[in-house]
Amino acid sequence: MTELLTETIVQEPHRIRGLEMPWNRVMGSTEGPASAARALGPWHPQEFMAECVEIVPEVGGMMTFVFRRCDGAPLAFRAGQYVNVAFPVNGEDQDPADRSYSLSSAPTKPWTFDITVKRDPTGLVSPWVHQNIKPGTVLEMLGPVGAFHLPDADRRARYLLLAAGAGITPIMSMVRTIHSLPGQADVVVLYHGAADEGFAFNKELAYIASVDSRIRVFYSLGDRAKPADWEGLSGRLTAAMLNEVAPDANGRQVYACGPEGYLNTATELLGNVGVDDTSIHMEFFTGDRQTILEYQAELALAVDIAEEIAEEIADSAEDYYEGQPAAFGLYEPGYDAEGTLQATGMPLETVDPDAPEASDDGSDAGAEVSTPDASSFETVGTGSLTLSFMRTGINVRVDPTEHILGPAQRAGVRIGANCKEGMCGSCKVVKLSGEVEMNHQGGIRAREIDAGKFLPCCSTARTDMVIDA
Ligand code: FES
Repeated sequence: MTELLTETIVQEPHRIRGLEMPWNRVMGSTEGPASAARALGPWHPQEFMAECVEIVPEVGGMMTFVFRRCDGAPLAFRAGQYVNVAFPVNGEDQDPADRSYSLSSAPTKPWTFDITVKRDPTGLVSPWVHQNIKPGTVLEMLGPVGAFHLPDADRRARYLLLAAGAGITPIMSMVRTIHSLPGQADVVVLYHGAADEGFAFNKELAYIASVDSRIRVFYSLGDRAKPADWEGLSGRLTAAMLNEVAPDANGRQVYACGPEGYLNTATELLGNVGVDDTSIHMEFFTGDRQTILEYQAELALAVDIAEEIAEEIADSAEDYYEGQPAAFGLYEPGYDAEGTLQATGMPLETVDPDAPEASDDGSDAGAEVSTPDASSFETVGTGSLTLSFMRTGINVRVDPTEHILGPAQRAGVRIGANCKEGMCGSCKVVKLSGEVEMNHQGGIRAREIDAGKFLPCCSTARTDMVIDA
């Protein structure tokens, strides 16, 4: 018996070298640029409707919302990407507020997808989201978007994943993705939080680290007081801490997501410990040329095919939606006969800031609202073109080469802006007359452009303009 056992040859487990995303073979098997574009199509941003199917409370003031597409298609994305979501925070008959949220689930589980939202009590959108999004809520989305994601194939998958606070969401998608795939990988996660009870997903991370020897997770409590039984690291990110968790940081691809100050510190420290710039990937929404260029290249490859697909999917989503009963408290955006969202096709009214307001009982407390006369507005700035901002009541002179957002904000026009690169949609305004040249990166929908909207952060004026802002 003993002899038999000693003679048994135990095969070494055959391991796949590196990491390969499941779709990579499909893409690799296609021939020619047209087929490659077709294969890449699903990652091109599309407009679609999605229904919330589950809510999962997370620690740290976060909430995960699980969605599925209304058209029944899977959401094809790469781990680390985000979607733009239109939230009807002011009611269904008002323009929605667009916000970008990273996908926290893994693309290897594409039939549903998660966004995890941290509640900011002073914010407009996140408190509304926590209070109002329920299973059955249907929202309009655009995506997936973003060049911050894991590669499709990596023969030497060695990663250092850095997250601070809510920056864990795209990193969680990466961890879940790697955990769900076969292949050799070596992953170090360093997760900074402000409070012991503030580490979202910590139970799942602990579980993954306990069963997947490829993934190690370290926590640091920042510089706040720590509980007596705290076993993690403490203090802000330092070169010594990087050396402690990943002495071989300079042989790894680094993905980092968190507040801007944290990312700036991380960039500096990673340089100090020898990590090359080309190995550092960060979720910058502002001004990262490399990210934008990568994204533009991705768009250029897929644009024709994807537009076709997007149209088909948008049509089928609308058909699907129209066939649904208006029960269960679903958010019903309301399409008009042409299929245009009524909310975006509403007649636009300019508001005179000096005009008397309507009283609470709905009656008009003053005389008829008249259209303000831009010729009486104060004019600021220099430049050959004049932009009249009707709500603010100011004329701003601009140069035809400069993006409209900067001069407008400097003149006191209140336009919210986040990415300043035409990606997030947060600066969207309506032009009442005039022409712009817009170079956006997916932050605006075709039908919004048809309804006269534009993104001033990535638009230049071609003529004098009148703008509803
Ligand atoms: S600020 Fe993001 S699209 Fe303009």
